[in-house]
Amino acid sequence: MNKNFEEYLYGTLNKLKNNTIKEAMEYCLEGGQRFRPQIIFAITKGFGIDEKEAYGVASALEYIQTYSLIHDDLPGMDNDDMRRGKPSCHKKFGEDIAILTGDSLLTHSFSCITEADYNDSVKVKMIDALCKYSGLFGMIYGQLLDVTAKGEITAEELFEIQDNKTSGLFKFACLAPMFIAGNDKYEYFEKLGSMLGVVFQNQDDLFDIIKSEKETGKSNSDVRNDKITALKFKTVEELKEHIDNEFKELREYLKDAPFDTQYILEIIDRMANR
Ligand code: IPE
Ligand code: IPE
Ligand code: MG
Ligand code: MG
Ligand code: MG
Repeated sequence: MNKNFEEYLYGTLNKLKNNTIKEAMEYCLEGGQRFRPQIIFAITKGFGIDEKEAYGVASALEYIQTYSLIHDDLPGMDNDDMRRGKPSCHKKFGEDIAILTGDSLLTHSFSCITEADYNDSVKVKMIDALCKYSGLFGMIYGQLLDVTAKGEITAEELFEIQDNKTSGLFKFACLAPMFIAGNDKYEYFEKLGSMLGVVFQNQDDLFDIIKSEKETGKSNSDVRNDKITALKFKTVEELKEHIDNEFKELREYLKDAPFDTQYILEIIDRMANR
């Protein structure tokens, strides 16, 4: 746990009045693994910049991540009772408050960027990318494909679901430090985020089957929901091998990185061993 970042993250809520939604926002933040912020910090440090400079944008992303999980768990979506090791938002606070808490996390996210200490042109680039990758150009589009996917789909269609619903936010995690550093290798960072998100979702699909709910801290509902996941195409053993190969490809891809990769390689090792 990164204590400094946690303090910053919760601290962005200080100005809000105390009410049920603020309470629910704090409740839902607790227990997240913070993988996306860790990726932001690792690349930021790889550019030789103090990770604290990334706290504003990393908070913005973690707020979007948390909102996406609240809405993903709603009865009209995956209908899941457990999240981050405890009852999901709608189970604890009711569906009405859960919807509003998600909305509130989403809008709060953008204040985390506007109120952070970046110059205006960096802020505009961050906000532009965050709108796209968390919206219909990324996460929401992937969620649309996820909830409407039925029956037979191809491996390419599965990739499109994963590359949007999960890689959307990972792409932003890789682009944010690029904006801070003033680097312009957009395609390189977008592809890195795509690779990280897809392998992360493949692991998530695997864990839904092979890990207990106590271990994942959330409801394992893919079978109940008849979800189209990586396991529609592969056996457990094949998927494990596929994931190992994806991590190898990631390490290979990082050999061409325009930043020092020691920190991101540590995160990748942690991901591969989770
Ligand atoms: C869950 O993300 C949603 C997926 C894309 C699989 P995480 O597994 O990173 O969940 P938290 O943020 O740690 O709760
Ligand atoms: C959801 O994928 C990804 C999001 C955009 C929230 P899942 O539905 O598999 O995520 P979990 O397993 O509920 O965390
Ligand atoms: Mg889902
Ligand atoms: Mg879900
Ligand atoms: Mg899942």
